[in-house]
Amino acid sequence: MSNPALETLAQRKREHLLQSMEPKNQAKGLAGFERVHLTHEALPEIDFTDLNLTTSCLTRSLATPFYVAGMTGGHPDAAALNLRIAKACETRGWAMGVGSQRADFIAGAGGQGPEKSTEKSTEKSNEWRVLRKGAPHAVFFANLGVSQLTQDFSTKTLDRLKYLVESLEAQALALHLNVLQEALQPEGTPHFKGALKAIERVCRELGTPVILKETGCGFSQATLKRLQTLGLAAIDVSGLGGTHWGRIEGARSANPVAQRAAETFANWGESTVDSVLAAREVFGESNTGKQPEIWASGGVRSGLDAAKLLGLGADRVGYAQPALEAALAGSEALCQWMEIQEFELKVALFSTGSCSVSELRAGYGTKTRLN
Ligand SMILES: Cc1cc2nc3c(=O)[nH]c(=O)nc-3n(C[C@H](O)[C@H](O)[C@H](O)COP(=O)(O)O)c2cc1C
Repeated sequence: MSNPALETLAQRKREHLLQSMEPKNQAKGLAGFERVHLTHEALPEIDFTDLNLTTSCLTRSLATPFYVAGMTGGHPDAAALNLRIAKACETRGWAMGVGSQRADFIAGAGGQGPEKSTEKSTEKSNEWRVLRKGAPHAVFFANLGVSQLTQDFSTKTLDRLKYLVESLEAQALALHLNVLQEALQPEGTPHFKGALKAIERVCRELGTPVILKETGCGFSQATLKRLQTLGLAAIDVSGLGGTHWGRIEGARSANPVAQRAAETFANWGESTVDSVLAAREVFGESNTGKQPEIWASGGVRSGLDAAKLLGLGADRVGYAQPALEAALAGSEALCQWMEIQEFELKVALFSTGSCSVSELRAGYGTKTRLN
């Protein structure tokens, strides 16, 4: 890899992966799960074998309501890890987001655009083509940060986004928001002026469903209201309670000012539970046409956590750091970890007397209540 910008990016991604494994960088206990109660049903009148986790994901049907949220990408070790996750997701019926494809976006920005891609761009795109080849039936989401779209949005930008989607044959593009991270990151690009317009334009012109996701700081109700009419297919709230990018960038920074600020903001964000409740309020009651699906990630660490979020009204539930940790331990460990999440969700369905995820979701107020 000879492009210095891509080398710096790869090094940063590697550091992010290592830092995300440090317990101090997890906002443990702040997701709000202790506030959610699933009501025990002593007389469920169903058999465990009746339970069905099948859900629809955008236009596809999947065997589970789970996804691995976007993580690895942009560094050389990522390809093998992504392939491992992709194969497991395909086998078990989980969807999968890839991590930021910014390296490809930058390489494509070498001047000629994707149709005359540079050597590096082609190399990176091959990584996504290999991933698709390794898991031909998996549901994939491409990924890029919104702050990459605010500086200079042109038709070339759209072409490059299409290129990211096409190289992965992705079912959707996830655009991520990471305000706190960009503010604290030594190499950050804290540019969000014009973000709403850029997102709207992508939704209108990309021709592929767009997911808007946070990265561990969640969404307030006021922010969600501003997203109602953009044409988003889904919003992944990715709330406070798990991997915390303020903490991670603080740990990476050599600047005492940024380090101190990272400590100050160590618990910053809207919890995952609050974010899902806000989304339910905004999109559940809206009469502005087709509303985005509500996806929930951020600090989900068990199938019971997932059941609580589904019970609150989430359509899908995502795991990032724990999936990565399991994947680092190998394919078998990853598949077993996934099986545990599925089994725990089934236990929660059974014990609330719900045959399916939709039955649990429909029981808000009775099967699921706030403490
Ligand atoms: C190592 C690592 C890298 C990540 N990289 C990205 C990324 O490139 N794009 C993105 O949208 N989110 C990224 N995320 C954020 C996750 O998708 C997720 O929103 C966040 O980690 C909260 O989920 P968790 O608590 O289960 O980890 C990353 C997370 C981890 C742990």
